[in-house]
Parts: sequence; C-alpha cells; structure tokens
Amino acid sequence: MKNILIKNIKGLAGVLENNTKALRGKELTSINIIQNAYLAIENGIIVDYGKMENLQGIADWRNLEIIDADGKFVLPAFCDSHTHLVFAKTREEEFVDRINGLTYEEIGKKGGGILNSANKLAQMSEEELVTAALKRLNLIKSYGTGAVEIKSGYGLSIKAELKMLRVIKTLKEKSDLTIKATFLGAHAFPLEYKEKKEAYVEVIINEMLPQIKAENLADYIDVFCERSYFTPEQLDRILDAGVKAGLKPKIHVNQFSILGGVEIGVKHKAVSVDHLEEFDDNDTQILKNSETIATALPSCSFFLNIPYAPVKKMINHNIAISLATDFNPGSTPSGNMQFVNSLACIKMKLTPEQALNASTINGAFAMELNNELGSITIGKKANIFITKPIPSLAYIPYAFGENCVEKTILFK
Ligand code: NIG
Ligand code: FE
Repeated sequence: MKNILIKNIKGLAGVLENNTKALRGKELTSINIIQNAYLAIENGIIVDYGKMENLQGIADWRNLEIIDADGKFVLPAFCDSHTHLVFAKTREEEFVDRINGLTYEEIGKKGGGILNSANKLAQMSEEELVTAALKRLNLIKSYGTGAVEIKSGYGLSIKAELKMLRVIKTLKEKSDLTIKATFLGAHAFPLEYKEKKEAYVEVIINEMLPQIKAENLADYIDVFCERSYFTPEQLDRILDAGVKAGLKPKIHVNQFSILGGVEIGVKHKAVSVDHLEEFDDNDTQILKNSETIATALPSCSFFLNIPYAPVKKMINHNIAISLATDFNPGSTPSGNMQFVNSLACIKMKLTPEQALNASTINGAFAMELNNELGSITIGKKANIFITKPIPSLAYIPYAFGENCVEKTILFK
C-alpha cells in the first residue's frame, strides 16, 4: 500500500487526540483545526500530522505520493449512520402525489411507499441490486462520505430480506466505503399480513432472525415504530429477539408520532434512536441519561415537509447527537452529507462546527466505528476528504448545493 503525504493543507480539521465517548454539549461547539498543516499516511493509517514548519522525515520516502493541498481543507470523511441505499427503483410518482396534496402516510396506506419499493425489489436480482447500490456508494463518496450504515427492509419476506442483506454483504467486500448492515424486516407489514400482523412479527422473530444470525448477515436490528407500522409492544419484542441474536438496536422512532419508542430503545441499549422529528420532555430526560445517540435526519424533514428534530435543544440537554442522510427512494432521495450539514445549520440552527462534529465523529459512534474512523487521530484509518479551494470551513454548509469535495481518500 502506498504512503501519502498531504502538505500545505489550509486547514486540517477534525483533529482529536483521543476520544472515548461521543461528543456532547459544549464539546460539540468547536472543531480542532491546524492551519498550514501536513498529514502523513502509512499503509492507510494516520501516522503523523502537524504544522508545516514541524514536518519531519517520513519513514518510507520511496513509496510516497505527495499531494499539495494548498488552499484546501482536509477533514475526516463523513460517517453516514442511517441509510436505505439498497433499493430497486426510485419513486418520483409519489413525489408528485405529495406535491398534489397526499401525505407520506396516505401514500403508504394506499399501497405505495415501502410496499411499493418491496414489490420492485422482489423482481430484481442480487447482481442488479449490487450494481445499482455500488453506483450510489460512488456518488456519496464523491460528496465526502467514507462510512455508511445500510438497512434491509424493502424485502419483507424471508427470501427478499436475506437477499438484501446478502447484497449489503457483497457491498462490504466490493466497495471501499466502510459499511455496517442493519436488519429492518420490521419496516412495514406485507399486504398478505395486513389482517394478521402478529403473524408477521413471528416470522421476523422465529424465521428471519435465526437465519440472519446463522449467516452472520447483520450488525444491527431496526424497527419502524409508528402508527400504522409497528407498535411499541412489537418494537419491544423484536428488539428483545434481535439482542438475543447478537444484534444491537438502531431504530426508527418519533418520525410522525410519539409512541414511547425512545424509552424502549434505550431500555435495550440502542446504539442510536433515529428520526425524532417529534420529541418531548420525557424523551429528553430518557436520552440525556443514556449512552444512546439521537440521530437526526434533516433531509428527510426537508423532503417530506415535516418538522425538524430539535437538535439544538438536545445539545443543550447534553444528549449525544449525530446527523445522517436517511438516503432512500421514498422520504430522502439524497445521500449528500454536505446538504445535511447545510440543513442542520439553516433549519436546525446548529453552527457549522456542531454539524461537522455530528456528521463525523458522532456519526462514527452511531455505527460503533469510533475507534477507527471519524476524526484525524493517530492510529485511525486515514479516511478523509480534501476540499476544493474554499475560504473557510463554514463555507461547506453555507454554499448549499455546491460540492465542496475534490477528492475522498478511503482505506479498508
Ligand atoms: O426512514 N420511515 C421509515 N423508513 C424510511 C422511508 C422508507 C421509504 O419511504 O421507502 C425513512 O424515512
Ligand atoms: Fe430511515
């Protein structure tokens, strides 16, 4: 593996000497930046960094690529901890339905939404799904993402859920992004179970989970706890079974209504509870006293025209927060973490520093990748992006819609 020296970096951002816990409260408000810096990478690992005037010898000059980053910033690659980026087809027709007045829930009720995606996915082969997902992974890499969590949940049958998880396994092998897999069999009730929902919960617990465990196909378990989807009681049971199968929870809660899912997630030691567009004082109390990360998905709020998760309030209450895209064909057809940062600043009133911390190091915590990714730290993987020449770090969220990333460098 070649070694890399990046020199003349205008600002090396996201430098953390060590970090054992996700950032909270005031810790989120600053980002360590070394101006006029260098970064040395050996065999894919960060081995040295500092000010240009302190640049010393590199261990192996023979095999060295030198990158001149004059005028450019270097940051840890984004860690996008919540996506559904394996899917069959896009759903522009529902987008038009919503413009014409239908809500996301109404579209779901008439057989669109998640069931629409499941029908389309059943007709696609594993190879076709891999090819389509690899394209999306390359696209998000070009926007600066280096690690991503991907959920199943457009299968909704044993065969198709396993197919999705095998696709994600292949992506782990083929892509240079770091990938975590989440089993989301409890995403919606298939039509044939509409009148016997409990039977589908039994299929998830007694048929899907054992196979997933046997083939080691997932890292996490997820449930969409929401009216017309899975009840808190079903969430509780599915998480219990998932944890027994060795999967930690990362769950969909409080997107449209508060049903008590946050409390159940924390009870099962969820790594993260995600969405939280609806959020009350009880949720605040529960999360502030836990290690569970609150993951907000502002581009979903933007696209569906629903409230934004109150992350500023969460930060004030010392809750650990992260930001992710929710990339999926129904509620967020974008995997662009720079846009997520813009929305976090513009709509959620985070500072650029808070948004960047929430999308890098805290995103890594939300995928349990914090020991290897998410910051410029000696010994971590050198998964980084180099910006185009830009005036300041705040320019990234400010210049919404512009791709400020020139190059993403990733190692596995
Ligand atoms: O996170 N809310 C549930 N799941 C996805 C949307 C899935 C879809 O519409 O296809 C979400 O928004
Ligand atoms: Fe989601």
